[in-house]
Amino acid sequence: DQKIVVKDFAELLGKRVSDIIGKLIQVGVMAAMNQEIDFETAAKVAKEFDVEVVEKAVSQDEEDETDFIVIPEDDEKDLKPRPPVVTVMGHVDHGKTSLLDAIRNTKVTTREAGGITQHIGASEVQVNGKKIVFLDTPGHEAFTAMRARGAKVTDIAILVVAADDGVMPQTIEAINHAKAAEVPIIVAVNKIDKPGANPDRVKQELSEHGVLIEEWGGEVISVEVSALQGLNIEELLEMILLVAEMEELKANPNRDAVGTVVEAQLDKGRGPVATVLVQNGTLKVGDSVVIGTSHGRVRAMISDTGKRVKSATPSTAVEITGLSDVPAAGDQLIAVADDKMARTIAEKRVNKIKEEQLKSSQKVSLDALYSQM
Ligand code: GTP
Ligand code: MG
Repeated sequence: DQKIVVKDFAELLGKRVSDIIGKLIQVGVMAAMNQEIDFETAAKVAKEFDVEVVEKAVSQDEEDETDFIVIPEDDEKDLKPRPPVVTVMGHVDHGKTSLLDAIRNTKVTTREAGGITQHIGASEVQVNGKKIVFLDTPGHEAFTAMRARGAKVTDIAILVVAADDGVMPQTIEAINHAKAAEVPIIVAVNKIDKPGANPDRVKQELSEHGVLIEEWGGEVISVEVSALQGLNIEELLEMILLVAEMEELKANPNRDAVGTVVEAQLDKGRGPVATVLVQNGTLKVGDSVVIGTSHGRVRAMISDTGKRVKSATPSTAVEITGLSDVPAAGDQLIAVADDKMARTIAEKRVNKIKEEQLKSSQKVSLDALYSQM
C-alpha cells in the first residue's frame, strides 16, 4: 500500500501543512505532519482543494471548445465555384521546388519591368482561363502545422516521386498525410529525363503503398514529368483542373472573410506580416480581423505577384500587414465587425490560454503522487 507523508503532500499541493491537516480532519483522518496517509485519502484531500488527481500527465482534451466566436454557415445558394489550392509533397530531392519553379516558368508570362517578384509563400497560375493556387510551404509541414490546429488548406496534393529513385520514406509519409486529410493525390513521376528513370517501377511501388494509378486499375491520376526540362507540365496542370472539377470546390465570396495563415514573420519595417489563404468570403483592406491570439485591421494586402490589392476572394493567398502580433501557421483568420470586437476576442483567447495553463499546473498527476509515496 502506497503512502505519503503529510508535509510532503502539502508541499506537493503547494498548501500549508495546517490546511492539509484541517482537510484531513474533515474527511475523518487524524494525522500529524510527519505521519503518512494513504493514496485514497490523499486523493480525497486533493479534491477538497480543487486539485484534480488525474491518471496520467495533463490532459486538456476536455476543455470546452467555445472560441468566443461562431462562424456563420453559408446558404447553399450563396456558394460559387472557387479555384483549387494545391501543395506539393514528396521525398527530399525528388524535385518539389523544381516542379513549382517549372510551373511558374511555364505560366508566368510577364514579369514586371525591373521588379523582383515578391515572395509571399504562395503563387497563382492561370490554366485555360482557370486559376490554380500553389502553396510554397512543403506539403509535409503544411499538413502537420495545419492539422495541429484543425485547419485544412489543401484541396489537392501533388506527390512528386523521382523516377530514378522510386518510393522512399517521405513519399510514404506524404501518402499518409494526404490520406489522413482526405485530400486527393495526383502523382507527378518526375525526372523522366534521367537515364535511370523507371516510371513503371514507381507506379508499381505506389500500388504497394495503397496508391493505385489508373493504369493499375485505380483512380489516381499520374503524369510523367521533367521539372528540369519543363516536360508535361501543362498536362499536369490540366489534370489538377480535372481533379478540382470533380471536387466541386465552392465558397461564398459575399461574406466576411475566413482564412488560414500559411506563414508569418516579423518584418523589421512592416511589423507582423502573414500570408493568409482566404478560404471563404472576401478579405478587404481595412477589415478588422482576429487571427488566433492576434488581431488588427488589414493595413495593406500584397498579392503573389507583389502587387498591392484591395480585396482577396476565396482561394486567394495574400500577404497582410496591420496585425498586433505574429500569428502562427495554421491559425485561422476571421474578419469581424470592428476593431473592438477583434481585440476583445483576441484578449479572451489569451486569457483562456492563461487560465488553462494555470489549471494544468494545479493538476497533480497520479504518477507524481505515487512517486512521492
Ligand atoms: P528538398 O526541398 O531538399 O526536399 O528537394 P526538392 O524535392 O525540392 O528537390 P529539388 O527541386 O531541389 O531538386 C533536387 C535536385 O534534383 C536538383 O539538383 C534538381 O536540379 C534535380 N531535379 C529536379 N527535377 C529534375 C528533373 O526533372 N530532372 C533532372 N534530371 N533533375 C531534376
Ligand atoms: Mg525544395
